[in-house]
Amino acid sequence: MASSPLLLCVLLLYTYCLTIALGNSEHGFVLVPRSSSASSGLPCSSVSQVTSDPNRVLSVPLAHRYGACAPSSPSGATDRPPSLAERLRRDRARRSHLISKASGRSSISQSDAGVSIPTSLGAAVDSLEYVVTLGFGTPAVPQTVLIDTGSDLSWVQCQPCDASACYPQKDPLFDPSASSTYAPVPCDTQACRDLAAGSYNNGCTTNATGASLCRYGIEYGNFDTTVGLYSTETLTLTPAVSITNFSFGCGLRQRGTFDRFDGLLGLGGAPESLVSQTAETYGGAFSYCLPPGNSSTGFLALGTPSNNTPGSFQFTPLHGVPGQATFYLVTLAGISVGGKQLDIPPAVFSKGMIIDSGTVVTGLPGTAYSALRTAFRSAMSAYPLLPPNEELDTCYNFTGFSNVTVPTVSLTFDGGATIDLDVPSGILLEDCLAFVGGSSDREVGIIGNVNQRTFEVLYDSGRGHVGFRPGAC
Ligand SMILES: *[C@@H]1O[C@H](CO)[C@@H](O)[C@H](O)[C@H]1NC(C)=O
Ligand SMILES: *[C@@H]1O[C@H](CO)[C@@H](O)[C@H](O)[C@H]1NC(C)=O
Ligand SMILES: *[C@@H]1O[C@H](CO)[C@@H](O)[C@H](O)[C@H]1NC(C)=O
Ligand SMILES: *[C@@H]1O[C@H](CO)[C@@H](O)[C@H](O)[C@H]1NC(C)=O
Ligand SMILES: *[C@@H]1O[C@H](CO)[C@@H](O)[C@H](O)[C@H]1NC(C)=O
Repeated sequence: MASSPLLLCVLLLYTYCLTIALGNSEHGFVLVPRSSSASSGLPCSSVSQVTSDPNRVLSVPLAHRYGACAPSSPSGATDRPPSLAERLRRDRARRSHLISKASGRSSISQSDAGVSIPTSLGAAVDSLEYVVTLGFGTPAVPQTVLIDTGSDLSWVQCQPCDASACYPQKDPLFDPSASSTYAPVPCDTQACRDLAAGSYNNGCTTNATGASLCRYGIEYGNFDTTVGLYSTETLTLTPAVSITNFSFGCGLRQRGTFDRFDGLLGLGGAPESLVSQTAETYGGAFSYCLPPGNSSTGFLALGTPSNNTPGSFQFTPLHGVPGQATFYLVTLAGISVGGKQLDIPPAVFSKGMIIDSGTVVTGLPGTAYSALRTAFRSAMSAYPLLPPNEELDTCYNFTGFSNVTVPTVSLTFDGGATIDLDVPSGILLEDCLAFVGGSSDREVGIIGNVNQRTFEVLYDSGRGHVGFRPGAC
């Protein structure tokens, strides 16, 4: 659909096409039929348009955890997804945890007596929404893991692990003794000492034959924990491509349910992450496309796309958060609603925005959110507002409307990159504006995953930029 006007423009008079294009963007509204936006209960439909780019062989399908494309329990038990209000409460906890970490305020919890003390905090992980299936070990066994740009060390639950130590999961537990490529990391190694620098080190443990092995421990921001053996293994992304000697955690004791997925894939910027471990081969770059709904798939890819990827990226500089190598920070420069630039002083955005896969709703500086809400509500004045749902204060009752006219919302980043969020999937979360405002303009913001839907988002630490390619899934 999107490419046909472009094709016309090649065939027809250039000025005529220019008029149409300008006319559309000046209008700045999109008519959304209600039937297509209510996608509940659809079967898993499309496999993503994973590009045929020869440099993107390392691309795996990615699914929404509550959708029909995510693997279900072998027992056939249907896990009821949590309510929107519950998802929003978890999301708020993740957002405030990321903000306090990024601003150097430590939020170390008092460890309770029952669990040995994991020494590192990852982001709150109960709001994570996207999963991929990777092959662990030799022969490779499929393991479905939550993806997270807010933490680094990856792990899966491992045998031997009984019900009191491991939560029930969808796939059989990973069994290291059945893999010819599994090895625990010995205690007296640089790799184990490096874990201490990342504050994941949980000391050493002696196995049955007296070998001293390296333990890792993570406590996440929502107090879920994983403790086990730091290990290396072969990770298979596609049948053709595997990563040898991948360092990960073989989880022997977990607290939390992780929604019954087998573990977690850390995509942050610190040395323990998949991205950093493969930087020599893939340049410290990865990308993903989050699908518009929960009944289709997107993809996760390592490396940068080659120049012949369809469509083009817009780039903005990637910054680090001092002392927090995990996070990816970009700078917002402006917001438009319905094609009109909002009047927001640029200084409001000076703290930057963490771009994150695991936060749902975007948190803007307070001043920016007020301006956005005013403009959005005014453009949507034809529809009755509902009372707030948790902190989402701009929710609509679309009952009785056969279609809804939604204004475009564009984000402009440092350097001029401007992206039109997908309408409606990138703007509305269950009929609510998927943004919230911070209590001040003095803390870092977060770009949540709703805004990122349908874009290929390329995190390229090697080249120091983040790219956005529209219509990628
Ligand atoms: C998918 O999303 C819709 C709408 O957001 C929701 O009602 C539904 O419960 C979700 N899950 C499945 C499995 O369809
Ligand atoms: C203990 O660890 C060492 C080193 O990896 C390994 O060779 C040995 O088989 C392990 N013993 C048991 C009982 O797992
Ligand atoms: C595997 O990685 C560890 C560090 O993570 C390194 O010490 C070791 O030499 C590597 N082994 C091989 C075979 O590359
Ligand atoms: C939404 O609007 C419909 C039709 O006007 C009304 O019947 C319904 O009660 C409203 N729902 C809520 C939650 O206000
Ligand atoms: C959109 O909905 C309005 C009122 O519900 C209706 O009058 C109009 O014809 C619809 N437009 C389209 C293109 O479906």
